[in-house]
Amino acid sequence: MAPKIPPGVGPQYPQVVVLVGATGDLARRKLLPGLFHLSSAGFIPGCRIIGVSLDDLDADGFRKLAREALTEFATRKVTEDDWSAFSKGLQYVSLAAGAGVLKRAVVEAEQALNGESRRLHYLSVPPNAALPAVRMLGEADLVDRSRVIMEKPFGTNLASAVALNARLHEVFDEDRIFRIDHFLGKEAAQNILAFRFANGLFEPIWNRNFIDHVQIDVPEKLGLGRRSGFYEQIGAYRDMVVTHLFQILGFMAMEAPTSLEPKPIGEEKNKVFRSMLPIKPSNVVRGQYTGYRSEEGVYSDSDSETFIALKCFIDNWRWAGVPFYLRTGKRLAEGQRIISIAFREPPKSMFPPGSGVSAQGPDHLTFDLADAAKMSLSFYGKRPGPGMRLDKLSMQFAMHDTSRIGDVLEAYERLILDAMRGDHTLFTTAEGIERLWEVSMPLLEGPPPVRFYDPGSWGPNAIHQLIAPHAWRLPFERVWRDPNAVGS
Ligand code: BG6
Repeated sequence: MAPKIPPGVGPQYPQVVVLVGATGDLARRKLLPGLFHLSSAGFIPGCRIIGVSLDDLDADGFRKLAREALTEFATRKVTEDDWSAFSKGLQYVSLAAGAGVLKRAVVEAEQALNGESRRLHYLSVPPNAALPAVRMLGEADLVDRSRVIMEKPFGTNLASAVALNARLHEVFDEDRIFRIDHFLGKEAAQNILAFRFANGLFEPIWNRNFIDHVQIDVPEKLGLGRRSGFYEQIGAYRDMVVTHLFQILGFMAMEAPTSLEPKPIGEEKNKVFRSMLPIKPSNVVRGQYTGYRSEEGVYSDSDSETFIALKCFIDNWRWAGVPFYLRTGKRLAEGQRIISIAFREPPKSMFPPGSGVSAQGPDHLTFDLADAAKMSLSFYGKRPGPGMRLDKLSMQFAMHDTSRIGDVLEAYERLILDAMRGDHTLFTTAEGIERLWEVSMPLLEGPPPVRFYDPGSWGPNAIHQLIAPHAWRLPFERVWRDPNAVGS
């Protein structure tokens, strides 16, 4: 069947994917449905996938698991024709079978492709299994013509991150390693680059002279479920901040790259991380929802945080003195992912007392990082009628307003495709990761005690002192406009 997509968007050569951790949660929820969509949409013609895991399955067992994963998690329609084409490319090797059997399976898959191909190893495994998996790939002689995607956490502190990178580099060169941070695969995250660098309007005010403070706020409603044991070891800072929130911060704060290529973008992002001041424990609120300590795998006196809010600074010419407030946590009041930029207020108010000027906070530019991205710019305007009363108004854009919403690739799909194409733009580098651990060390070495918060709240009360004299943008005082609503 002819590809349904323009040439050049997919990888140059057909791919053999070795999916380690193929029966795990992430593989079932995101990776198998994602690979299926890339395949059925024509992005990766001929792609073959070899599932690898500790489970004792055969190829048919793996196909059954993949089919069930699609039924449960695919967000688009799965036709029998597409499934039949996809399932023919699925193979399975149990870890117990060893490196030799895996090598044979890869070679057979390559022979079936009948021409030049590339290998993509996706390590969807917990941190303690990542290095053994890398070593196995080395032992199986599967490093040639290959790239490897790694899942976070990339270490748990500076020393372990440096050690992990050193061990990885014994097998794979840095340019072959793709450390995935799925927040950067979100359409809206990339749109930050478009917004900033494709327009002349915003960049001149994108600095400390005009911006008062920035919030990156990712509250989640969901609890930990079966991940409580994992959280007990890792906590919200390592799970969310040192990864996703700091990466978003990198895009938001970086200088214009010399070109829109992976290397210049990576360099600019790393410069932001280099300019970050170490995180002061006194600028951090750690929280734990009540009830967490009775969950499975959690100590009854656990000090792990399920919530974190902090203030950090980027000490360079553009951002010196501008506080960046970051917050994320589980079992909070709402699930949201926003970046909110608060602009400085005018130097002098000429409006009469009671006019309402500045009563509703500063002007804000807000990005909603949902898959269907939204943006809004709020400002004061005159309320119609006599006198001079001011109201907070806003201009809003929603991706849903365009006819292209169906073209959005899910974050993992986008990132897998980029890794297959060898494009590092949306991946993190060893240098960047190590620097982020370095600035984290004061907090990791002297964390403030956790404070409790009620499930369904916005976190411990101390978050208000942290951000004072400002206020958290969430919950929004006005809901996003719904373009489809009657009368809007
Ligand atoms: C993951 C974290 O990386 O991101 C989870 O481990 C978190 O704890 C998730 O819930 C959030 O991702 P998304 O795409 O659902 O916002």
